[in-house]
Amino acid sequence: MVAKPIWNSFETFSKFPVLRESLHVDVSIIGAGITGITTAYFLKKAGLKVAVLDAGKIGMGTTGHSTGNLYTIIDQLLSSLDSKYDKEIIQKVLKARDFGFQTIERILRQEDIDCDYTVQPMYLFSNDKADKIEEELGISSRLGVPNLEVSPSDFPFKAKKVIKYPHQAQFNPFLYVHNLANKIVSRECQIFQDSKVEKIDKQEKGGYIISTKSGSVSSGYLVHATHTPKGIDLKFDTTLGPYREYAIAAKLAKDNYPSGIFWEYKKDEKFSFRAYKRNGHHYIVAVGKSFKVGQSQHNKDLLESLEAYLKEKFPVKEVTHYWGGQNYKPADLLPFIGRKSPGANEYIATGFSTDGLVYGTLAGKIITDLITGNKNQYEDVFNPLRVNPVKSARAFTRENLNVAKEFFKDHILGSSTKELQKLKKGEGKIMEIEGKKLAISRDENMKYHVVSAYCTHLGCIIHWNDLEKSWDCPCHGSRFKPSGEVIEGPAIDALSKVDENNENG
Ligand code: FES
Repeated sequence: MVAKPIWNSFETFSKFPVLRESLHVDVSIIGAGITGITTAYFLKKAGLKVAVLDAGKIGMGTTGHSTGNLYTIIDQLLSSLDSKYDKEIIQKVLKARDFGFQTIERILRQEDIDCDYTVQPMYLFSNDKADKIEEELGISSRLGVPNLEVSPSDFPFKAKKVIKYPHQAQFNPFLYVHNLANKIVSRECQIFQDSKVEKIDKQEKGGYIISTKSGSVSSGYLVHATHTPKGIDLKFDTTLGPYREYAIAAKLAKDNYPSGIFWEYKKDEKFSFRAYKRNGHHYIVAVGKSFKVGQSQHNKDLLESLEAYLKEKFPVKEVTHYWGGQNYKPADLLPFIGRKSPGANEYIATGFSTDGLVYGTLAGKIITDLITGNKNQYEDVFNPLRVNPVKSARAFTRENLNVAKEFFKDHILGSSTKELQKLKKGEGKIMEIEGKKLAISRDENMKYHVVSAYCTHLGCIIHWNDLEKSWDCPCHGSRFKPSGEVIEGPAIDALSKVDENNENG
């Protein structure tokens, strides 16, 4: 089993350059996932000069770690929206999602993008929580969302209640973004990989300069398409909850791959699965329970329970891949798409939960319309400057109590230096040595890596992820390599290394 998404496992892909110059463009975009590349696609069409910078490879961040499922409902189900919003708002959200969905279909047809797109029905089913499916059926029918109740006796899996949403879809999310990037890259739309933005400066006369180790881009407009805005922003830090989930790809012993996208609701868990085929290779892809970043005691257990689930459903021959995907859930359930602050020419798109492929595409269109001065009918409902205190209140309080709990719990716990020798290969532990909280891990060669245990975003204590061998922050979801470099999240700076030459804890 390899620790990587299945989506880029079949071919070798073209490389994009590293930024090694100073450029001036109309719009700079940080992040080359579905949001960044779709925004660049629309801006280029509108005649603007664009530069897109990604800290890693194009399409291989959050987008390349997603499920590749495209649907018009939402991950947390319509019942969650129904408890907070009136019919008019929910219908607007659904119309916006339908627009995002159709836009992907239109782009891939117009641009002839090879991404294994297929139209599929999506099924929601449950044996243990039939009332949840029943409730969803009632709400979606009331809202006019096309659906069908399926008789459990006609359904291939054990279920008491089943809903079918026709005309949903699936694709390979990495191929879509990577191939779209290749279609738009040009003198007017430059795209750079391995170009991590280390500094963002506002210019006095207006505009922005973003700098990497080896270059910079100045622009009149700046778009944060990084899943969560980089740096400290109290509004978004306190209203977004960082979550993670694991996925696996497997080969089946028999050629009985299911047709459709399936979400099963169990007691306190949700699993999803669907088939995927490329170059004659057939797989099943399954996704497990969502958990708060840095707060699972043993991430390995989550992967094992996902494998066990899949094996209950199918005769699995071999699990070939596993990977983790991160998402941010907004307290009021609606993403933030638009201006970052009043009057600024800085734009964000975040809080997509696990619905980011459709919302990211929609964000590309909304942000382009805002920059070019066109009215977009969906800009108000997702406006980041909205105030939804009542809608957010309970979730906001829950997220922030949780953040506060993690912050204080970890700052008062101590560890013994004797533990150091006990650390095994692939393990990590927070230890207090000479009054300093240190994050110490041992790699495959038994070498120690010692870094400061304080997240560089806002100072929470990081936690060891025993599956992905990373340090994960439970407060706002930043993740770091054992050697300290940022993998993802709002943190910009690496954890400081602690060794004989560097005692800064
Ligand atoms: Fe905010 Fe770590 S991600 S404190």
